[in-house]
Amino acid sequence: MGLVSAKQMMKKAFKEKWAVPHINTNNLEWSRAILESAQELNSPIIIATSEGAIRYMGGMKTVVGIVKGLIEELNITVPVALHLDHGTFEGAKKAIKEGYTSIMYDGSHEIFEKNLQNSKKIIELAKEKKQSIEVEIGTIGGEEDGMIGNGDLADLKEISKMSKLGPDMIAAGIGNFHGPYPKDWKTLSFKTLENLKKVTGRAIVLHGGSGIPKEQIEKAISMGVSKINVNTDLQQANAKAIKKFVISGKIDKDKNFDPRKLYADGFQALKEVVKYKIRQFGSENKA
Ligand code: 13P
Repeated sequence: MGLVSAKQMMKKAFKEKWAVPHINTNNLEWSRAILESAQELNSPIIIATSEGAIRYMGGMKTVVGIVKGLIEELNITVPVALHLDHGTFEGAKKAIKEGYTSIMYDGSHEIFEKNLQNSKKIIELAKEKKQSIEVEIGTIGGEEDGMIGNGDLADLKEISKMSKLGPDMIAAGIGNFHGPYPKDWKTLSFKTLENLKKVTGRAIVLHGGSGIPKEQIEKAISMGVSKINVNTDLQQANAKAIKKFVISGKIDKDKNFDPRKLYADGFQALKEVVKYKIRQFGSENKA
């Protein structure tokens, strides 16, 4: 099928009350684990890179090449959108040109008027190319690619103005955090989420999708969250599997120094987490 924009899958998820898994990729193994899992469970999928991951993987052209190549060679037939996560203004413009099919412009660290102005420009550019577009209001707590957010709840007047620009999805601070949740963290702000839905009437994106209790995920989806972003849960599962392989001494047996053997358990762990998320978000068999 090749890459598609996330528009159709988002519309369907919003209408039918499930969420599209947005899984961040970090390398070739990650990309393959994400695509194979989506195919095996017949789920649409958003495979995403932050700009830090893009630099790590060798640039946007490399990422586009890896994802497109895997789709073709592995006969992936479920809808796949390649998404820029937390794009800067320049990064978003570049991704639009380089073949990403879904773009997030994150101007949440700017003053609101600047965020609004830049979002408007990126929305226009993405729409010209029929790519889906996500913008952000309010900050998500924790650290992502060196950016620290306080976890400010989204302001409804600002959300309303942003929504009028017509983005396909809006990411908003609803008490969510990137990375592991602080020990004393209790809950998402469902009041903010309820207001958000009333004001925007469009798909809401939940960032920081790792480590949120199952009941809160289900409630958020029932209230209009239609895309959930996950990175940390995969990183932790992968690291744990590789640590076990090393500590058990398996690394010194046979020819296990071969990266294909060394990374094998981590790869399986990635697949297990992606499949768990697909089932939890209700996107199995929604391709
Ligand atoms: P986690 O790393 O907390 O899962 O968050 C991922 C994310 O929101 C990417 O945008």
